[in-house]
Amino acid sequence: MTPSRSGAGAGPQPGSSVVLGVGGGIAAYKVCEVLRRLTESGHEVTVVPTAAALRFVGAPTWEALSGRPVSTDVFTDVPGVPHVRIGRSADLVVVAPATADLMARAAHGLADDLLTSTLLTARCPVVFVPAMHTEMWDHPATQANVATLRARGALVVEPAVGRLTGADSGKGRLPEPEQIMQVVTSVLARGITGAGLDLAGRRLVVSAGGTREPLDPVRFLGNRSSGRMGYALAGAAAARGAKVTLVAANVSLAAPAGVDVVPVGSTAELRESMLAAAAGADALVMAAAPSDFRPVAASRDKIKKAADGSAPVVELEQNPDILAELVAVRAGAALPVIVGFAAETGDDGADVLEYGRAKLARKGCDLLVVNDVSAGKVFGREDTEAVLLASDGTSTSVPAGSKAALAEVVWDAVVARIVAAPEPDTH
Ligand code: CTP
Repeated sequence: MTPSRSGAGAGPQPGSSVVLGVGGGIAAYKVCEVLRRLTESGHEVTVVPTAAALRFVGAPTWEALSGRPVSTDVFTDVPGVPHVRIGRSADLVVVAPATADLMARAAHGLADDLLTSTLLTARCPVVFVPAMHTEMWDHPATQANVATLRARGALVVEPAVGRLTGADSGKGRLPEPEQIMQVVTSVLARGITGAGLDLAGRRLVVSAGGTREPLDPVRFLGNRSSGRMGYALAGAAAARGAKVTLVAANVSLAAPAGVDVVPVGSTAELRESMLAAAAGADALVMAAAPSDFRPVAASRDKIKKAADGSAPVVELEQNPDILAELVAVRAGAALPVIVGFAAETGDDGADVLEYGRAKLARKGCDLLVVNDVSAGKVFGREDTEAVLLASDGTSTSVPAGSKAALAEVVWDAVVARIVAAPEPDTH
């Protein structure tokens, strides 16, 4: 086992020892792609399928893609004691697809094959990626087993909503390989142990993307936000065990695994969805770029070019400030922790951080992530660098790196504030 890692920004850890447990579901075929990506990322992967999994995808496929032999029972290579060795030496166990039956066996501590034995001996992070029909997922027996596994420190990813095996669709679909890899990368980078799922049981709301204010049925006022930062935040929080609502304004990225996405268009829609989702949340993060202005009236018909060559004059009015409103609704309570973003450029009057401090005070939020966007930095890019300003006067510089790494720093600061918050008085 490689040493336990923690701290944000550690980044993907190539060379980790990963156990890929495969349950007996049709989605096993998608997990071949996960395996390929794991090995291409430099991880050593031991595939442990169940006997039922091999009815969907045969052993030669797993062996060829992992470069290692596979077995399903504890009676192969007995002198090597694989049912103990494989779990003990793992840095991470990922079970995908995690079927209802497999999670039931794991929740009850059965050890009737190599995979369930491995789950009992593993002392590393364990991630279950369920896939099954909606009825099976919703059944109280499955929900109780999921709750048991989560209570013991496993990360059980919420299934995706979409097309299932037959013509039906609903909740229960395996997230796409890319989304599974994001979870794996995030967990490995943090070196999470059971207790490290520090957002488990928390409800978080994140906004992402740029709003569009309609001018007419085909035109809008918009901005260059890609939504990447908000999506990175949502994915990182879900990988730390949180239940995440992601209010996404015009984002074309794939949703992170296990995250509830609420699509919106305009600032008015974003405001409505944020206020609705805020009730009872532990933290709210405004990573979206709402348009500050909107046309006073959107034309019902497409605005035509005038024959005389003149251009229309569009009258604008200010949009509400959602972040300030969320702070006002909280009205002095410690929770939810509220986080804003500020894309700033410095000028002769003040530098980027001075503008950031002033904005933090003006908005009244707890944390403000300040990006310097001079010369086209940050927008639409994969990487970022920022300073995290806190209302208690402290600041944290986050060096250039991935948006996923910045997301971890933001959640570290949020966790510290959630933990420090006084329990609400329920009397
Ligand atoms: N924000 C918001 N509602 C708006 C505009 C911005 O909630 N109508 C949020 C953004 O999501 C971000 C923070 O406020 O978290 C700061 O956004 P920014 O555009 O920098 O702030 P503005 O108040 O618009 O300030 P400026 O006058 O500098 O544009």
